[in-house]
Amino acid sequence: MIMNILVTGGAGFIASNYIRYALSVHPEDQIINVDKLTYAGNLENLQDIESSDRYTFIKGDICDSTLLEGIEFDGIIHFAAESHVDRSIIDAHPFLQTNIMGTYNLLEIARERDCLFLHVSTDEVYGSTEKGFFHENSPLLPNSPYAASKASSDLLVRAYMETHNLKAMITRCSNNYGPYQFPEKLIPLVILNGINKKPIPVYGDGLNVRDWIYVIDHCRAVDDVFHKGTSGEVYNIGSRNERPNIDIVKLILKNVSELCNLDEGGLMDLITYVEDRKGHDRRYAIDPEKIEQEVRWKPEMDFNEGIRRTIEWYISHEQWWQRIISGEYMKYYNVQYGERLKA
Ligand code: NAD
Ligand code: DAU
Repeated sequence: MIMNILVTGGAGFIASNYIRYALSVHPEDQIINVDKLTYAGNLENLQDIESSDRYTFIKGDICDSTLLEGIEFDGIIHFAAESHVDRSIIDAHPFLQTNIMGTYNLLEIARERDCLFLHVSTDEVYGSTEKGFFHENSPLLPNSPYAASKASSDLLVRAYMETHNLKAMITRCSNNYGPYQFPEKLIPLVILNGINKKPIPVYGDGLNVRDWIYVIDHCRAVDDVFHKGTSGEVYNIGSRNERPNIDIVKLILKNVSELCNLDEGGLMDLITYVEDRKGHDRRYAIDPEKIEQEVRWKPEMDFNEGIRRTIEWYISHEQWWQRIISGEYMKYYNVQYGERLKA
């Protein structure tokens, strides 16, 4: 079936990878990307596909229901969010606005049009656990304002499914890494600070654990759930790849040393233990068996290979990250789209 899909937050890390993936595997589908272009939105992430006649970009806020009403689509894959935990600790307001009210707006329009809604959520909604694994029916016990805003949006999706018979699914994925990740997150931060010989901040004792998944494996999972999943269901997406932060940092620096011909000891000396994140979740761990069994999805990328490829990507895309560091990337929208909008 040919689909006209509204993807929200498509200029961000995961959704830009998703759009590229979806256009390649569904040769007839149309994708409309609505993105507000916050600091995390970067149209340069989509430069190679922006001229496709199956792709449309609309600069807009998911909190703007009038804008959404004017767009035609028959399915929604909802990625847009404020996504960085540290920022939510400093100022929770945009997280509540976008992640809760923005999701509410999209649910309203999906309900009016009776269209399929996939809500991209996170394993952080379950909170932290020292042992065992979270399942789809584990209680939601979020600890950061970011996680609480995502848990709130998950509950809204559930309520619309129960109350309005909305056809919807929720996915809850673990920590992503790969090309186009904004360099405020751990993995790109370590890669770039390593390359640029800057201090590498490790929060607390560095022993907090995350389950890392390559972004394309996540994109494939989202796509499989959207096309083959069962409405009303929640699916955990994880890689069974738990690692303490300090091990990740050392692995990246070892690879940076080899790939950039830099002294490994000198790179390791950049590691700087800093004050812990407030309310820092100790360990995230989800059981992905349901999606593996019911949707027949499995992660494919080996972690060492994925890290190596990611570092190589950042090395070969220096202009991309230099323009983020300088702030130039924010101007791309006006240069590319400003004239067209005036016409
Ligand atoms: P990101 O911060 O890289 O991108 C978010 C995008 O949303 C940006 O392009 C931004 O401009 C856009 N946006 C923000 N507010 C908006 C609004 N009001 N209207 C329209 N667009 C808006 O995020 P990401 O890391 O790619 O995460 C994408 C989704 O996946 C989020 O919902 C996040 O909660 C979820 N998720 C992320 C991870 C991860 O490891 N990064 C893991 C699991 C789930
Ligand atoms: O688990 C999924 C979540 O993963 C997503 O829902 C979030 O959107 C995404 O940002 C990510 O959240 P984390 O807080 O786990 O990711 P982050 O990259 O910020 O941090 C990963 C770990 O590394 C975490 O334990 C904090 C630590 N850290 C992070 C930074 C930025 C450091 O030690 N130093 C740092 O400078």
